[in-house]
Amino acid sequence: MTTTIEVGMLGFGTVGSGVVLRLTRVAARIERTQGLRLHLAAVAVSHLNAPRAVQLPLGTRLTDSIADIVDDPRIQLVIEVMGTVATAKRAIIAALVSGKSVVTANKDLMATAGDQLLALARRHHCDLFYEASVAGGIPILRTLTDSYVTDTVTEVTGIINGTANYILSAMTASGRSYQHALTAAQRAGYAETDPTNDVTGLDAAYKLMILSRFAFGQALTLQQVAPVGITNITTEQCQSAACCGWQIKLLAEVQRHAGHLYCRVAPVAVPTSEALGQVVGVQNAVAIQSEAIGASLYTGPGAGSTATANSVLSDVIVAAQHLREDVRATVNEQCGSLPVINIGELPQAYLAFSASTIMELQYYANEADCSIRPVTANCYQLTALTAAQRQRLQARLAIQLIPIMGTEVWSAPVDMSMPSPSNVAI
Ligand code: HSE
Repeated sequence: MTTTIEVGMLGFGTVGSGVVLRLTRVAARIERTQGLRLHLAAVAVSHLNAPRAVQLPLGTRLTDSIADIVDDPRIQLVIEVMGTVATAKRAIIAALVSGKSVVTANKDLMATAGDQLLALARRHHCDLFYEASVAGGIPILRTLTDSYVTDTVTEVTGIINGTANYILSAMTASGRSYQHALTAAQRAGYAETDPTNDVTGLDAAYKLMILSRFAFGQALTLQQVAPVGITNITTEQCQSAACCGWQIKLLAEVQRHAGHLYCRVAPVAVPTSEALGQVVGVQNAVAIQSEAIGASLYTGPGAGSTATANSVLSDVIVAAQHLREDVRATVNEQCGSLPVINIGELPQAYLAFSASTIMELQYYANEADCSIRPVTANCYQLTALTAAQRQRLQARLAIQLIPIMGTEVWSAPVDMSMPSPSNVAI
């Protein structure tokens, strides 16, 4: 027996077009294997007459009114792929309040207002799924939800911005300038409409904030992540690092150590021999360390129309099954409350780029209490520096420091709430 689910979609850009294309292509299979007919009743756009890359199926209404979808009592499931924050938030709230399940690709919104929207979804007995918001085509959120339910995640390290990885890979491999590589990423449709969030690390930070909710039951705040982007990285730096066995990557990391969460989004020198050092172009990768499975790595396209649309549609299928069976399962309640520390605060080794002479560098390195070793012209390796030593060095010299992956000195911070032996009453 086939159940028909009435679907409305907000937005018809890159991801929306992919959703329509894939849905049309696999509709018969979904009906045969899942017993579901997904009827795309209406699509809301801002400009009715704008040219479209993909045709809507016969019988799908095109409207320029969001209310036509979120207020239509026949529509049971709303796909939000508009890519705005304030308008999308209002639309999702309206849909949830009227009992519709929602699937969204909106990482900015789910990172910043996810807890509020998830609570609203639970209150109204609706699903709110957002697989497509992190790592494009990699089914990482559902994997964390389903396959790690009996495991305990300790580390998540990802390359989760396809545009930044595309730019850094192009600068390293073909010597392209930053600007040239960015233009190519925009032309390929990987970058956001305004690529600022891609290159400043904000996009990766939003995705990390969401990943942390799934991995540790604790969403991070933007202040805690304090992202550093790739705008100051040069082609010369990428190539010098690569000559000596490192790839500069925009890494997003969150780890649990000794009752604390440590996080960071920043350019990091990743050894080329590491799996993450070999992830190039728009590819994303998420490496997970967990108690039961150990090390696992998930890779795939981090952006692109059909890959992201597939993540949207896999959520749509689960939400549609739940509607048919009258169960809703929006999960990921915020349950953790560990103190959060930025990984940049830990002592660690750095690749240093500076045009100063080795004599000058040596002098200031001695003053900052660290040792320095030349790697290639203008590129040096520094032994583990504390945050204070790093700041002292940066105050004295024009020097750019890129942390080297895996060199952090994990010293558990002193927990001031714990009584020390000297003040325990006996
Ligand atoms: N601009 C994003 C990226 C798209 O480059 O990863 C997918 O979120």
